[in-house]
Amino acid sequence: MKMNLFFASVFLLTAMINVHGNAAANNNLILIETSNTVLVYRIDQEDVNLYYFGETLKQYDDFKLVEQNSHLGNIVSTYRGLAFNESSLRVTHHDGVLSTELEYVEHTVESIDPNTRQTTVVLKDNIYDFYVDVVFRAYHQQDVISISTRYRNSEPSAVHLYHFASSYLPVFSGRYFLTLFHGEWFGEMNMRETELVEGIRIIDSKQGVKTSDKFSPSFLVSLSHKAKENSGEVIGGTLAWSGNWRHSFEIDHRRKLHIVSGINPFGSDFRLESGNSFTTPEMLISYSSKGKGQISRNFHAWAREYGLLAGNEERPLIINNWEDTFFSFDEEMIKEIISDGADLGIELFVLDDGWFGTEYPRDNDSQGLGDWVVNREKLPGGIESLIEKAHSEGIKFGLWVEPEMVNKDSELFKKHPEWAIQEPGRRMYEQRNQYVLDLSNPEVQDFIVNTVSGILEEHPEIYYIKWDANSHFSNVGSPYLAANNQSYLGIAHTHGLYTVLERVRAKHPDIIMQVCASGGGRIDYGSLKYFHEFWSSDNTDAYQRIFIQWGTSHFFPAIAMGAHVSDVPNGITRRSFPIKFRFDVAMSGRLGMELQPSHMTEEELDFSKNALKYYKRIRPVVQFGDLYRLISPYEHNVASLMYVSDSKSKAVLFVYHHKWIYGDVYPDIKLQGLDPDARYLIREINKVGDFYIEDGQGPFSGEFLMKNGIKINTPFSRSDAHLTVSLMGEYDSVILEIEKVQ
Ligand code: GLA
Repeated sequence: MKMNLFFASVFLLTAMINVHGNAAANNNLILIETSNTVLVYRIDQEDVNLYYFGETLKQYDDFKLVEQNSHLGNIVSTYRGLAFNESSLRVTHHDGVLSTELEYVEHTVESIDPNTRQTTVVLKDNIYDFYVDVVFRAYHQQDVISISTRYRNSEPSAVHLYHFASSYLPVFSGRYFLTLFHGEWFGEMNMRETELVEGIRIIDSKQGVKTSDKFSPSFLVSLSHKAKENSGEVIGGTLAWSGNWRHSFEIDHRRKLHIVSGINPFGSDFRLESGNSFTTPEMLISYSSKGKGQISRNFHAWAREYGLLAGNEERPLIINNWEDTFFSFDEEMIKEIISDGADLGIELFVLDDGWFGTEYPRDNDSQGLGDWVVNREKLPGGIESLIEKAHSEGIKFGLWVEPEMVNKDSELFKKHPEWAIQEPGRRMYEQRNQYVLDLSNPEVQDFIVNTVSGILEEHPEIYYIKWDANSHFSNVGSPYLAANNQSYLGIAHTHGLYTVLERVRAKHPDIIMQVCASGGGRIDYGSLKYFHEFWSSDNTDAYQRIFIQWGTSHFFPAIAMGAHVSDVPNGITRRSFPIKFRFDVAMSGRLGMELQPSHMTEEELDFSKNALKYYKRIRPVVQFGDLYRLISPYEHNVASLMYVSDSKSKAVLFVYHHKWIYGDVYPDIKLQGLDPDARYLIREINKVGDFYIEDGQGPFSGEFLMKNGIKINTPFSRSDAHLTVSLMGEYDSVILEIEKVQ
């Protein structure tokens, strides 16, 4: 980790600093500062108001002088007289009073680690003993700030919470362009950018389990004009919560934007008993004055350090059987995939769905879920013989589980029908022929922990778990929660999930885990705290993957982005791609394969072997490097992105020609992130034939590569420039390894 030494030592010396009302009068600014950005709050008598969110300033005294009515908004937006905007906090106090008026009490500053400073601003209702603590964590080097809020009830009896957001962020720039990420199963993380107009735009999830299936809990707001990669002011936000969430974007009559983010208040009001507190999930925000590319690099750097498990450790190359075998496999077939995968250079085999169930064998998705006992008819030697096989081939073994769900046709459901989410007397709806278990129930939590732990204790050699969740809430209601607390289910369920994951991780701290929810349905930083990576999508059609991975890359780093090469034609799109195109697309993420090598041609096998070898070489740059998105597939029929190592000594460039249209105009590929003064050699990898780029070109200066760039040659638009890549047809692609000359 890069660290300003002065900064580090100041932090290490800083004890917790408390600032009370009087002291604050002298120094009434509260600065939430990272290396390049700052939120400036000012304590105005009893109020705490936000005045600025942007680039850091050399000094902040001017903010002490500005008019109070120039503030952007309160630190918390409560429901009260004369407050007509969407509230971030709306409660009914113990005596039925509807409004809340907060006053500043104190704020504290403490260092969590040399890079992270936590500021807690304590507020209290001016009549009631109802407290609100707004907790900011400023991640200095990564320019990411998290905001969460704790609501504390010291009133004589329960307070009812209706709106209890994580954060309220007022912004002013006149025009605002919202980029959201939408889709569904097989088509996640599509990007849509629209200008916000007067009124309220809400994006949310009410699906309970799948947080990112229809919309991702992530957004970009670009100020004044549409978001660009390398210029302009952009705010990025993503909620770290694995349940129902909501972001509202309200433009008022004066064109101010109010962003309220948190758990979805829809159908989830609850009683906060006297003496209790409720802490919201963290809302992560980042500001950039240099476009959205910087926002992505900020989140990636933050994620590798704080947002996911072991973000500084290389991920293994995986082969998974699912997309080729589905439920139809036997021991011999699996062993063949293991040894063929190992021959190619794969490092880990993952056995997917279908390995369990005796009374109700899991031979399709309508039965067996919940019965976590190996199906010896399919796998006579059990899991142990597959592990043995993997080890004898020198690779590791991983296993699929979906422990939060149950099929109606299962021993588990027959034994514990009351464990499924449902309401008395109502029809029970299924999704993918299954129900969601009620994780608010501690017995269910124990069952899941014991199931997963049991498997791992029986087979301590299991190295990796793919943790799936293939249903959203298809029913409403908890048989466990009290009648007057039913609307708490969404929150209690997510807390239950976190309890389960914490317990599993505590028992098995070394296990590598992938989060999956029918593909990219649970990609959020609430889950990723417990996982190393996610399965980006069940859609492995290489053309579609360019878009899915492009969208995902805005908030989530390549190291976590499972990207597998699968068989062609694709099962749903029916499209076929050359093996090179499939690998070239998958190699920009955490590479894997999801097919039976025995179905591949000799040529494809040779290509794959080399590609895996090359990936091992570029893996540190892809998995730990800085991402630069160069040409967007949304704007051109060619897309390009690159990763650059921390020291700028190595880079990898990806170029995809995903659509061929006569007369198309091709932009130059202007590289980014290199050292302008260094010289770089260029070498093509995953080469088929020799017409893409000549070997060992250069060395070129970083400046030349970034300003002059690389030109694209196509059959109808030939460039006679010195440095070109040739993209002759649709689904042509190029990967260039770029290395600094010592
Ligand atoms: C989900 C996952 C797939 C696979 C299947 C198994 O759809 O996304 O990768 O694991 O479940 O049923």
